Amino acid sequence: MSTEREEMGGTTLSQKKTFMESSSQNPKPQEVLPPGDADHGTQGDKLVIAMVGLPARGKTYIANKLQRYLSFFHGAPTQVFNVGNYRRKMFGSCVEHDFFDHSNPEGVKARRECSHAALEDLKKFISSGMEKGRVAIFDATNNTRTRRQWLIDELSPILQSKSHIIFVESVCEDENMVENNIRATKLSMPDYQSMEPDVAVADFKKRIAHYMQHYEPLSDQDKEYSWIKTVNGGQQVVLNKIFGYLPGRIASFVMNLHTSPKMIYLTRHGQSEYNLTQKIGGDSSLTAHGEEYATALAAWVHKNILVDNPRARLWTSTLKRTIETGKHIRHDEIMLDGQPWIVMRPREWHALDEIHAGIFDGMTYAEIEAADPEEFAMRKKDKLGYRYPRGESYLDVFQRLDTIIHELERQRDHVLIIAHQGILRILLGYLMWNEVKDREECPHISIPLNTIKCLKPHAYGCTCDSLCLLKKEAGPDGQTEPCAPDPPSH
Ligand code: F6P
Repeated sequence: MSTEREEMGGTTLSQKKTFMESSSQNPKPQEVLPPGDADHGTQGDKLVIAMVGLPARGKTYIANKLQRYLSFFHGAPTQVFNVGNYRRKMFGSCVEHDFFDHSNPEGVKARRECSHAALEDLKKFISSGMEKGRVAIFDATNNTRTRRQWLIDELSPILQSKSHIIFVESVCEDENMVENNIRATKLSMPDYQSMEPDVAVADFKKRIAHYMQHYEPLSDQDKEYSWIKTVNGGQQVVLNKIFGYLPGRIASFVMNLHTSPKMIYLTRHGQSEYNLTQKIGGDSSLTAHGEEYATALAAWVHKNILVDNPRARLWTSTLKRTIETGKHIRHDEIMLDGQPWIVMRPREWHALDEIHAGIFDGMTYAEIEAADPEEFAMRKKDKLGYRYPRGESYLDVFQRLDTIIHELERQRDHVLIIAHQGILRILLGYLMWNEVKDREECPHISIPLNTIKCLKPHAYGCTCDSLCLLKKEAGPDGQTEPCAPDPPSH
């Protein structure tokens, strides 16, 4: 079938599709295949990550963030086994500090039962097929050598080697940080819900003191094992025997994690010429309406971010429409802590470019459906895995966003990201781990134009406020109409 659109560029769609068939000039062309095992994280060896450290050192935060990161960006089926949850289920949540006293035989016995139950479930998970269980995270204090040896003995027989058990220790030497952590994460737990906050904090500190008596941090004595130690939210990081691709990514991710408060602002570019004509992809400029949004965004940023926080960053893609959307934001040079600082210095990332629609770049959804109903139906059926011919799939985009995620986690300043619908769906889905359950949901998340999403990460996920900065949206004829949704995506 040949449509008007197909002939416009002198090359028909079917020619573009078969462009890379072998020829005498290129007898062995590179084939772009649909996503396979590598995209679903089911290649490589199984891993167990065992957390180490005193209570209130952010172990559960690291475990949960790792779970989200590995399942989203590496497609690795990952599950956290939190021994505290087993304890709450098996012995109730209202236990006071003496339950954790090592000289209390009943407490010791009960806690052993909990860790055994959690480990049994973990072993079942990690022994199941690769597509069910690739990485298991054992979230407990594991703060003595005997306890860690027990894990090695139990797990080595079911893993490829003992280097596939990676201990991740979180150390925090700052008492204020620990106290803040207790208040932020422990007081809302069922354990303390009916207690006065100060009484609860005092009880929790006694719990920590019981663990401190026997705590054996990872050190040179543990040289034969694989471990990562992070001190004071990544200020110092020690790696020991970290081998392999995924362990390397885990080490880098953990190194960048911290809980210093920061805001992440996400927005799409203003309306582009292609948005107006409902074409996908391309590299068009903003329309007059898009320009209006760029002006409104700058005013909002100056008033709501920069007045109190000049220490903020601006990231865009390399495409015109995002760069133009950020162009009215001020980049004053100021002195901060005795150092020169450029406010919101723009940084362009290729990794933030929109999903590439390959041979369909620059067409409308209606044109794609008319020209190639089969491809159109395939995308509809599997939007996450579908790869545009000569273009990308959402899974490909997940892979290229991996570096962005490490960098975003590392940032301690506020970050404003001006990007595209497909890209922001993935970033939002990753950050909202309390709401978006798995990556299949991402391609369907709504990211309207003219809206800024203000995200505030916290210990158990993220809150998100959506603000529409321009109440009107230009219609396809360029006339300004009441705020209307985007053309439905497919
Ligand atoms: O329509 C705007 C746009 O950013 C296109 O450039 C892109 O192809 C599309 O959105 C991504 O959304 P979907 O995955 O729903 O097609």
